[in-house]
Amino acid sequence: MAGRRDFSQEAHRPMIGVLRRPRTRLAHLTRALTMSVFSRQRQFITLKPLDGDAGSPAPPLTDGRTECLIVDSPEALDDLATEISASFRDSVAALKARVARGCVVCLARRPRVDGVGSVVVGYEIAERGVFSALGRRIAVSGDVVFSHYVEVLPEYRGQRIHRLLFSTRDSYFRQRGGRVVCGVCAPRNHASLQALRRDGATIVGTVERISLLRVFVLSYTPSDRITQLFAGAERNGADART
Ligand SMILES: CC(C)(COP(=O)(O)OP(=O)(O)OC[C@H]1O[C@@H](n2cnc3c(N)ncnc32)[C@H](O)[C@@H]1OP(=O)(O)O)[C@@H](O)C(=O)NCCC(=O)NCCS
Repeated sequence: MAGRRDFSQEAHRPMIGVLRRPRTRLAHLTRALTMSVFSRQRQFITLKPLDGDAGSPAPPLTDGRTECLIVDSPEALDDLATEISASFRDSVAALKARVARGCVVCLARRPRVDGVGSVVVGYEIAERGVFSALGRRIAVSGDVVFSHYVEVLPEYRGQRIHRLLFSTRDSYFRQRGGRVVCGVCAPRNHASLQALRRDGATIVGTVERISLLRVFVLSYTPSDRITQLFAGAERNGADART
């Protein structure tokens, strides 16, 4: 009896799909129309001084299973290309182009399950001297490090790999005069906000872009406020060291 009910549901599934599709299409159309008339994007600005708290222990660079390494030349990325999953947002070619333009990529690797070689399970892209959000780039002091993007493969999330990537990146830039790390994060990205909070970053402001009729675009990036924030973070860092 149960089998028969499943069978009839199965038989009706294509029909239900067809009936639902126009409604889904209408919803998509309505959203696209609304977005073309008005859209508002907002991101939090996060900030973390690289001096950290002198009293607290340095964050770990490995968890015993994960190895993080810095790639700051396109050739170094070539050597690791076969370990980088095609399911990441950025392809190897895109990462290479970023590195060629001055970005630094941190890769997190784990040994393969079959024990043969390693697999890249996460990466982070950072760049110094720039603040970038919602399609705009602002030149800032060279000791400011901007975190463009971080991603961990879904099956490895929740294992604090984000923290290892960030601490490896921080150590690299600290040794090269980096003073503060900043980034932007969508207010709805709870996983990222949680990870950033745990890493010691705080939300210090927002950037916003409002688009009206796609013709009139009011792009709001408070560049002077951003410069002030970085100057403040650097001053605080200097105060803490004296
Ligand atoms: C943001 C991201 C990099 C965090 O990496 P991570 O190594 O999983 O970080 P953490 O282990 O510290 O987990 C952070 C939070 O993710 C959430 N999380 C935990 N397990 C998860 C899972 N299996 N799937 C999704 N999110 C999970 C939790 O909220 C966790 O915080 P909590 O443990 O305090 O509850 C990862 O979720 C990701 O790649 N997201 C997609 C890309 C993205 O949004 N990048 C940031 C944009 S700049």
